[in-house]
Amino acid sequence: MADPTHDTALRVDALGVSFQGVQALQDVSFSIPAGGVSAVIGPNGAGKTTLFNCISGVARHTGKVELEGRDLSRLHADRRAALGIARTFQTPLLVPELSALDNILLGAHTRMKHGLLGALLRLPPVARAERAMRERASELLGRLGLDRSQDRRVDSLPHGDRRRVEVARALIAEPRLLLLDEPAAGLGADEAADLLGDIEAFAADTGMTCVLVEHDVGLVMRVSRHVVVLDAGRLLVAGTPAEVAADERVIAAYLGDDWSEAGV
Ligand SMILES: Nc1ncnc2c1ncn2[C@@H]1O[C@H](COP(=O)(O)OP(=O)(O)OP(=O)(O)O)[C@@H](O)[C@H]1O
Ligand SMILES: [Mg+2]
Repeated sequence: MADPTHDTALRVDALGVSFQGVQALQDVSFSIPAGGVSAVIGPNGAGKTTLFNCISGVARHTGKVELEGRDLSRLHADRRAALGIARTFQTPLLVPELSALDNILLGAHTRMKHGLLGALLRLPPVARAERAMRERASELLGRLGLDRSQDRRVDSLPHGDRRRVEVARALIAEPRLLLLDEPAAGLGADEAADLLGDIEAFAADTGMTCVLVEHDVGLVMRVSRHVVVLDAGRLLVAGTPAEVAADERVIAAYLGDDWSEAGV
């Protein structure tokens, strides 16, 4: 297991990815402090999703990815998940005809030791583990304000609730590091702030570190401990919200006029 007492949750060093010769990420290095919410921002195509794909092990990369001091660079996605990395995808991958609860249980497979065969054979320890997981899923849905919706098909839920089910599905694995790719996409400003506030509270309670991609810069600056700014596959700057807000390159290259609207 990664070391939970580490001050730095995540460190990437000289990360690089190319797709058919196109350099999607180039020499990206930064650290994310342990605990709380941090963020990755940058214009469309900057490489934010690609960065998450590298960290979670979905994309092949050069350079190094460390979780709480442990080098994960050579490990496949499933090993990285088992060591504590969970994520959501920019395009939600919920199964529309399943209930919210069952979608979350699908996310639990990395933590179940006995697997599907054990469940089918109805072995007593498996039944107990399943029951515990079901209770945990239900509790998570409650924490995210979805207690009344847990048995509803996700395709009957409002968009904002579906986004919350996505987050709950990643949380069932009790990750050390949770990567959320635009969790608030398509939500109104208030709903987005509520969701990020709930995630922040969850991270504070559990000691988990969350890194999210979010386009609302004002919101990012309010909730984040640390902000990483990517531009065209390169790291522009990484630091506290105040440091990032003061950086001329960020203002010039990315934020432009939007910056004043962000109120930072
Ligand atoms: N599988 C792929 N094959 C080829 N090019 C890719 C692939 N995935 C990403 N890219 C390219 O890599 C670059 C970074 O893409 P990425 O999706 O990481 O950006 P992003 O910052 O997440 O953008 P957005 O804000 O639109 O989600 C883009 O130029 C994109 O076209
Ligand atoms: Mg993206």
